[in-house]
Amino acid sequence: MRSVVTGGAGFIGSHLVEHLLDRGDEVIVLDDLSTGGMANLTRVEDHPLLTVHCGSVLDEATVFAAITGADRVFHLAAAVGVRLIVEEPLRGLRTNIHGTENVLEACRAVGARLLLASTSEVYGKNTADALSEDSDRILGSPLLSRWTYAAAKGIDEAFAHAYWSQYGLDVAIARFFNTVGARQTGRYGMVVPNLVGQALRGEPLTVFGDGRQTRCFSYVGDIVPAIVRLIMEPAAAGQAFNLGGAHEVSILELAERIVEITGSSSPIVLVPYEQAYAPGFEDMRRRVPDNSRAEALVGFAPATSLDDVIREVATDLAKRNDGVPELTLLSKDR
Ligand SMILES: NC(=O)c1ccc[n+]([C@@H]2O[C@H](COP(=O)([O-])OP(=O)(O)OC[C@H]3O[C@@H](n4cnc5c(N)ncnc54)[C@H](O)[C@@H]3O)[C@@H](O)[C@H]2O)c1
Repeated sequence: MRSVVTGGAGFIGSHLVEHLLDRGDEVIVLDDLSTGGMANLTRVEDHPLLTVHCGSVLDEATVFAAITGADRVFHLAAAVGVRLIVEEPLRGLRTNIHGTENVLEACRAVGARLLLASTSEVYGKNTADALSEDSDRILGSPLLSRWTYAAAKGIDEAFAHAYWSQYGLDVAIARFFNTVGARQTGRYGMVVPNLVGQALRGEPLTVFGDGRQTRCFSYVGDIVPAIVRLIMEPAAAGQAFNLGGAHEVSILELAERIVEITGSSSPIVLVPYEQAYAPGFEDMRRRVPDNSRAEALVGFAPATSLDDVIREVATDLAKRNDGVPELTLLSKDR
């Protein structure tokens, strides 16, 4: 089985690459190393079944070259992270729309199955108790760059669905809800590595807004096997699947758990959104997934606790950051 992973040097992509190689797949990575890096692939860099192409999904010829001969393609390459999208909306729009169109077209030409990485951001400000895949999208103005990521990913999904209905392309869509774990970087606005990094460095933990906004964090190690099962499942074609965590937590509670688990003496401070991003910045108050579609089709069951994920992120950051002191994490049974 030959698998292509676009964005394979990124956070989620690198975990997927390791998983596929461990299963015995031949794996081809296509990544421009913009937010990802070869350091994420250290464990497998010398693996005989791994090939890494450094190039952009915006380059049609590069995409075709990488995908030719592939049985399946996981399209994860994207401009990701609130900070990056707010600061560089054009990069986000171009990468996340044109890049995806190139991948879809190459998969159609080659006859490869496709798994498209989408996001819970497509639901926007819908605060429903449990968002099902058919829930309405409630987005702010398209003139607010903050919403361009959700808009672009929504167009990606529409493109994918049209390739399925008009060309019969075997494509499934996975909507990730705040996926977290080792190797995620805080550079582009991801909350868990940011707060854990602050706690480890003894800096104040900066929680945006009133901290009562909630999320359901999902662990990358739970997500990766689910998307591999989805791409192999013929009944998944033409459908979207929520892949989120099972427990709703406020960002303030998250910060408190991080302080306790890392044994940090850092205070938690609230920072207004206007100060963190720009005037008029909007955030989602709540985002809770209904995972039942993925559970029914491929047995998706998010099993890893938030505390375990925090420990893993802290250990990973301490390993990678010279400035972070040696860790004594709160043990599991306390
Ligand atoms: N992490 C999350 O919580 C989350 C949530 C929802 C959706 N997603 C989706 O999952 C996918 C992976 O996200 P991630 O969190 O691993 O982010 P990431 O930034 O770590 O990974 C993205 C990868 O794509 C690469 N890339 C960016 N532009 C490219 C281009 N033009 N050509 C080739 N490669 C390019 C980057 O170098 C990086 O390695 C993305 O599609 C993202 O939208 C992630």
